Amino acid sequence: MERIKIALTKGRTEDQVVPLLEAAGINCEGIRNKQRRLIFDEDPRYEIILVKGPDVLTYLNSGSVQIGIVGSDILAEQENFQYAMLDLNVGKCRFVLASTKDFNPQAHRRKIIATKYPNITKRYFQGIGEDVEIIKIEGSVELAPLIGLADAIVDIVETGNTLRENNLQVFAKLQPVNTKVVVNRLALRQYQPQIKSLIASLAKADDQLI
Ligand code: PRP
Ligand code: MG
Repeated sequence: MERIKIALTKGRTEDQVVPLLEAAGINCEGIRNKQRRLIFDEDPRYEIILVKGPDVLTYLNSGSVQIGIVGSDILAEQENFQYAMLDLNVGKCRFVLASTKDFNPQAHRRKIIATKYPNITKRYFQGIGEDVEIIKIEGSVELAPLIGLADAIVDIVETGNTLRENNLQVFAKLQPVNTKVVVNRLALRQYQPQIKSLIASLAKADDQLI
């Protein structure tokens, strides 16, 4: 039987999802001892690749992998909702609007907002009827209001430690985030029994986790 290819988001998602894959009976020894490897075929049923979140969707949409495991933040930013098949209880966090304590969300001048997620930010401010300038940042977004690049940020909060350690406050709570298992639609038809059984065992492992 042909292997099912899975694109897994490397980093935090990988760290949280590997125990789940193992609980679902998938051999992840290779990923656990990976060093610089990027493809893992220890389990004869699967080929797992490690990529950055947005690239999970690129591989998935091209059909070169059948399954992706990625944060809903990435799906929402790319406005790419169509393939989500399973919500996992891992990767739970939330988008927030945050800044220093002297930030005034009611101020009338046009605000500058720094974020790694310009589309989510644009939609949020459109939703509250406010026109803002958005600056795209690649990481350490919390620096922007501290260094004077922006008035506030839209970013993800998990434990709140980064905000606390940098003296930032939450001014608005936006949408929650979690990790999702997404499937290429065509692949779902081609490999239906294999994909359905994988989704079922992941769902079971995920339920047992909480
Ligand atoms: C993420 C996010 C926040 C932080 C939230 O950043 O952008 O900065 O984690 O987690 P916490 O509430 O538990 O502190 P990440 O560490 O992924 O780095 P980056 O933003 O620089 O890419
Ligand atoms: Mg960060």
